Amino acid sequence: MRCSLATGLAALVATTAAASCSSTNSTNGVPAPPKNTSRKIKRVDLGPRPGYLVDDMDESPLKTELQQCLDTSTKPWKASTWSIGHRGGGTLNIPEHSVQSNMAGARMGAGILECDTAFTSDLELVCRHSQCDLHYTTNIVAIPELNAKCITPFTPAAGGKPATANCCTADITLAEFKTLCATMEGFNASAVTPEDFINNPPSWRTDLYSHCGKVLSVQDHIKLTKELGLLHTAELKTPEVPMPFNGNYTQEIYAQQLVDEYRKGGVPPEDLYLQSFLYDDMLFWLKNEPEYAAQAVFLDSYGETEEELPNAVANLTNYKADGVKYLSPPLPYLISAENGKMVMSEYAIKAKELGFKIIPWTVDRSGSLYDVKENNNYYFMYFKDAVNKDGDVFTMLDLMWKEIGIVAIFSDWSATLTFYANCFKIGLF
Ligand SMILES: *[C@@H]1O[C@H](CO)[C@@H](O)[C@H](O)[C@H]1NC(C)=O
Ligand SMILES: *[C@@H]1O[C@H](CO)[C@@H](O)[C@H](O)[C@H]1NC(C)=O
Ligand SMILES: *[C@@H]1O[C@H](CO)[C@@H](O)[C@H](O)[C@H]1NC(C)=O
Ligand SMILES: *[C@@H]1O[C@H](CO)[C@@H](O)[C@H](O)[C@H]1NC(C)=O
Ligand SMILES: *[C@@H]1O[C@H](CO)[C@@H](O)[C@H](O)[C@H]1NC(C)=O
Repeated sequence: MRCSLATGLAALVATTAAASCSSTNSTNGVPAPPKNTSRKIKRVDLGPRPGYLVDDMDESPLKTELQQCLDTSTKPWKASTWSIGHRGGGTLNIPEHSVQSNMAGARMGAGILECDTAFTSDLELVCRHSQCDLHYTTNIVAIPELNAKCITPFTPAAGGKPATANCCTADITLAEFKTLCATMEGFNASAVTPEDFINNPPSWRTDLYSHCGKVLSVQDHIKLTKELGLLHTAELKTPEVPMPFNGNYTQEIYAQQLVDEYRKGGVPPEDLYLQSFLYDDMLFWLKNEPEYAAQAVFLDSYGETEEELPNAVANLTNYKADGVKYLSPPLPYLISAENGKMVMSEYAIKAKELGFKIIPWTVDRSGSLYDVKENNNYYFMYFKDAVNKDGDVFTMLDLMWKEIGIVAIFSDWSATLTFYANCFKIGLF
């Protein structure tokens, strides 16, 4: 149970928890603030989005409380370790895994910055969400000599067939990777030129900041995050080329290399949250890197249909027994709809009962929440009946913080989370 909340609505929750709280830390599993107090960005700026979202809420005590927090407090906003910058944290409007997205996340108060990692042909680690996403997150197809190295170079749309390309980090060297520009995720399947193929985000994103996002190696990301004085999270992306790669580069060598990069970069175990979807990576780190594994996060993907979800719940007991402490499910695993209201799912009840530190993904990745039913949006798939409008994001966050007790959460636009965290004094520094 949580015990640091003492005002308004939160007091209702806190009173029942008070008795069991005396010996627990008031931060309650929320990542401790960085020990490094030298912070490059001293002023956190939340911009207009939190206000838009609060105004959009249905009337409720929570809305009143958030409105007061938004409009009447004169205190400066603080950064929060509860707020994780997903693919940087400015990803809603700024190319993912670019310096610019990370800067935006940091300025919007993300306490933890994410680098997903993939390897290049010369076995260097770089920040990319998928090993084979270069054709729709960078300008690679518009650079002829690099396009030529892609597994599938760009082929224009013709005769009713869509344009295609497939370009992986393993197709190029680190030096070549560094010449790319990060662009907004998306491609134009009707494109007849490579220039038309790239930088084609959905209408609710924008290409306004997409001139040439600066790409990052893992070492670049470590350096930037350290300079900013923030915490690090790194996901070992599942390879999309056959392993072992190059004959002898195995999954274990790759998993070890990620830890070695952070060690080499001078990042202590308490400043790093490793992540993987592959359970074997978790077991590997627990066995070989116990200090870094203490904060390793298992990304759950075992409940992708309603039929499978009970298996995912059943699996939790094993993870616990193996020593996994941090669990990262997508939002829909944690929430169910009951009479048009969001409630804790069976998965959330079980995960909480087992004492997992829960870090869900991902907020601000879905366009307008007015459209989630119509789109059958992945992030709301099991509770879309309880989601009607953009302001519902705070009802969702409130359930996840006050009832489920999540310790942090990923967002594509860090201000949304940082705002909520400031209102309820979660992980601030
Ligand atoms: C509780 O959290 C604070 C802030 O992160 C930290 O300074 C303190 O050492 C923690 N106390 C315990 C008992 O873990
Ligand atoms: C997609 O590609 C086609 C053909 O090259 C082009 O006419 C069209 O403008 C492109 N669409 C966008 C949104 O860039
Ligand atoms: C602490 O912050 C300073 C300045 O922002 C930076 O140079 C240094 O590398 C940071 N140290 C760590 C361990 O992150
Ligand atoms: C992998 O094989 C290459 C030669 O193809 C060799 O240079 C390298 O040392 C080997 N690495 C390991 C870890 O065995
Ligand atoms: C989770 O459960 C499924 C189905 O019971 C099983 O196939 C899978 O191996 C389990 N996953 C892990 C990581 O234990």
